[in-house]
Amino acid sequence: MSTASDPTEHRAIAIDGPAASGKSSVARRVAERLGFVFVNSGAMYRIFTWWVLENGIDCSDREAVLRLLAKAQFECGEVDGVATVAVDGREPGEGLSREDVNANVSVIAAYPEVRERLVAAQRAHRQTADVVMEGRDIGTVVFADSPYKFYIDASEEVRQQRRRAEGIEDSISERDRKDSSRVASPLAVADNAFVIDSSELTLDEVVEKVLAKLRQDGLS
Ligand code: CDP
Ligand code: CDP
Repeated sequence: MSTASDPTEHRAIAIDGPAASGKSSVARRVAERLGFVFVNSGAMYRIFTWWVLENGIDCSDREAVLRLLAKAQFECGEVDGVATVAVDGREPGEGLSREDVNANVSVIAAYPEVRERLVAAQRAHRQTADVVMEGRDIGTVVFADSPYKFYIDASEEVRQQRRRAEGIEDSISERDRKDSSRVASPLAVADNAFVIDSSELTLDEVVEKVLAKLRQDGLS
């Protein structure tokens, strides 16, 4: 997969980390503060997983998953500074955090063909706007050329507590294990990423650390 940079593109802030480390809450706030577009790349893996399930396909049936991928149309947009995604005209909303989506998304995200298609859609956002994008491979693959990379972590116990507090059934340790051990673009700390352990920090404190580092790097 190409990681070539285009100097005419807009700026990209990459935020990676394991499940429930606070990536999306932090990325959304940083994007608001800077006037960048917030892109939750996990939502793209989730929507395709949801679509596979809606079509009654077994996520481990590679042939069937790739057949659906070949005909699926992803429509990516932006509303009020937040990226949106639909598949074949459908937007599941809350369905993205359904229990069966949580349980299967790491299986779907491990198919290199799925990643290739969605990474292209992710990179396209940067052609029209400055972006803050969060996920698992943003600093290592999607925007490997960006100088602005963060890795937000938290202890497994804290992350599990955070998900429970949201009332969501999600076996995050199993998902992290699959995401970190897969062959295609595994979750990893990018070279030169600024690592923040958010276990004992509030969201505002994490946001301030990110903004301070960006100021230090001359961005804001
Ligand atoms: O919000 P949470 O951290 O629970 O997950 P998410 O960001 O919505 O991502 C859901 C799943 O999509 C992850 O567990 C990964 O399997 C996959 N994903 C990925 O492989 N690469 C990304 N850049 C983003 C998400
Ligand atoms: O995107 P990711 O799965 O990494 O995490 P999130 O959905 O942004 O955050 C998970 C939950 O932890 C949310 O309810 C946050 O409000 C909460 N939280 C946090 O993310 N960071 C803190 N420092 C404190 C709480």
